[in-house]
Amino acid sequence: MDVVRVKSVNKSFGPVKAVSNLNLTVKTGEIMGLLGPNGSGKTTTMKIILGILKPDSGFVDVCGINVLEKPVEARKIMGYVPETPHLYEYLTPAEYLDFVSAAYNIKPDVGKQRINELLQALEMKEHLNKLMSGFSQGMKQKIAITAALFHKPRVLILDEPLNGLDPRSARIVKDILHRLTSEGVAILFSTHVLEIAEAICHRVAIMDKGSVLAEGSVKEIKSLAGLPGSSLEEVFLKLTGGEDTAKIVEALTL
Ligand SMILES: Nc1ncnc2c1ncn2[C@@H]1O[C@H](COP(=O)(O)OP(=O)(O)O)[C@@H](O)[C@H]1O
Ligand SMILES: [Mg+2]
Repeated sequence: MDVVRVKSVNKSFGPVKAVSNLNLTVKTGEIMGLLGPNGSGKTTTMKIILGILKPDSGFVDVCGINVLEKPVEARKIMGYVPETPHLYEYLTPAEYLDFVSAAYNIKPDVGKQRINELLQALEMKEHLNKLMSGFSQGMKQKIAITAALFHKPRVLILDEPLNGLDPRSARIVKDILHRLTSEGVAILFSTHVLEIAEAICHRVAIMDKGSVLAEGSVKEIKSLAGLPGSSLEEVFLKLTGGEDTAKIVEALTL
């Protein structure tokens, strides 16, 4: 079942066309990878799905809720980890997550239990009462992920979520995401790292200049690009016009 449906969405910032006639779906129980070079429109697409940005035209539906008409209702069933999460750094995770819990109207004892579960899973429990200003990027990322999962969203939107995480933490997050998909959560996940996409996404969409160039399983996309035996990196470079990278490397190394 398509839980997220984006149809014919356009969004410009002045003269810059950030998203152009974009179509995209995310199904229940899948991790959909959003891949694309810098500036291809991934973050803008995610913010439009979340109802944070209003598209110039088009349609977005999440679990049957029209996001353009009912953004607040839609946000209640979505969790979001932004590219650079802004936490209240002079709070501890315990204080910050209590605040998140209250914002979602979760009963304090249920909230406390949820904080414990999530921080235990992310190996952050020992940091519960330390100020977040002293945290590494990866530790902050784990708190942002905890906050996004707090209200058990049906749709999870993660913008480069593995940034700054060490391999062990990245593995834990991947395991959590897979467990969530087995519970039927739909996940949209942007990344630059193609190996990650290939390893964890059920389907991927390759974006360039605001449009989706190809959407499907990694295998389908490889054969669509006429490169069935190649790596996703080669397919990505071919589709996004990066075949000239050899020339760039040559120019840089001359
Ligand atoms: N708030 C904004 N104001 C002006 N231009 C923006 C804004 N947000 C994004 N853009 C432009 O839209 C394009 C797509 O950006 P973005 O969605 O952030 O791409 P990505 O996440 O794939 O790197 C880029 O050209 C970017 O400069
Ligand atoms: Mg981005």
